[in-house]
Amino acid sequence: MRPFIHVNCAMSADGKIAGSDRRQVRISSEEDKQRVKNLRRQYDAILVGVGTVLADDPHLTVKGLSYDENPIRIVLDPHGRTPHEALVVDGSAPTIIITDDFCEKTWDNATAMRCGNPLDLPKAMEVLAENGIENILVEGGGETIASFFRNRIVDRYTVFVGSMLIGGRISPTPVDGDGWISEGGIRLELKDTEVLGNGVLLTYSPIF
Ligand SMILES: NC(=O)c1ccc[n+]([C@@H]2O[C@H](COP(=O)([O-])OP(=O)(O)OC[C@H]3O[C@@H](n4cnc5c(N)ncnc54)[C@H](OP(=O)(O)O)[C@@H]3O)[C@@H](O)[C@H]2O)c1
Repeated sequence: MRPFIHVNCAMSADGKIAGSDRRQVRISSEEDKQRVKNLRRQYDAILVGVGTVLADDPHLTVKGLSYDENPIRIVLDPHGRTPHEALVVDGSAPTIIITDDFCEKTWDNATAMRCGNPLDLPKAMEVLAENGIENILVEGGGETIASFFRNRIVDRYTVFVGSMLIGGRISPTPVDGDGWISEGGIRLELKDTEVLGNGVLLTYSPIF
């Protein structure tokens, strides 16, 4: 048993999710930002990788919701690189940092969940499900999303395509990792398209 996994991100029309300096770029339209805000309210938890915490320092909360109303924030962080001063551990919402078995770091406002060595992602999802987390919104970045697809544990993939170009051969993309060779990769079934301001939201189901 594992939670329902929904991967959501925003990319430029040339398929990049951040600049070549890995800094955040405003890709989403106002309409897409509102959609993501509504989406977060529907999920038990929001998950990112530690690379996103270090690059963007996201809060991962929904404005106006109390500590108990907010989704649980989860960071995949095998080596405990989340800084103590990161916004994701500011105590404004329940937070879980998933580390490997050797990580000894603790955070005042977060629960450290040790899960294998190396970190066992499918096992971590099982443990979250056993603790009542039924659905998770995975918001990035590229390495994290790749590891969910690699483990074939994605149920829905939505990507907002913003009307801009970022360029750069090293700019992050929605699915980084090692990639697949030639005939590899994961096929998707296109479920829906929606214009959201100056961009398009694509909704897919992966075919595993
Ligand atoms: N446009 C968007 O929608 C969007 C959303 C979020 C982020 N971003 C951008 O994405 C970039 C960050 O992406 P990123 O790929 O560098 O970082 P990331 O995916 O946020 O984090 C990657 C790190 O998380 C850990 N990790 C992830 N999956 C793991 C797994 N299955 N097992 C063990 N560890 C795992 C590893 O940490 P260790 O290295 O410590 O092993 C890995 O290096 C930033 O530029 C950010 O601005 C864009």
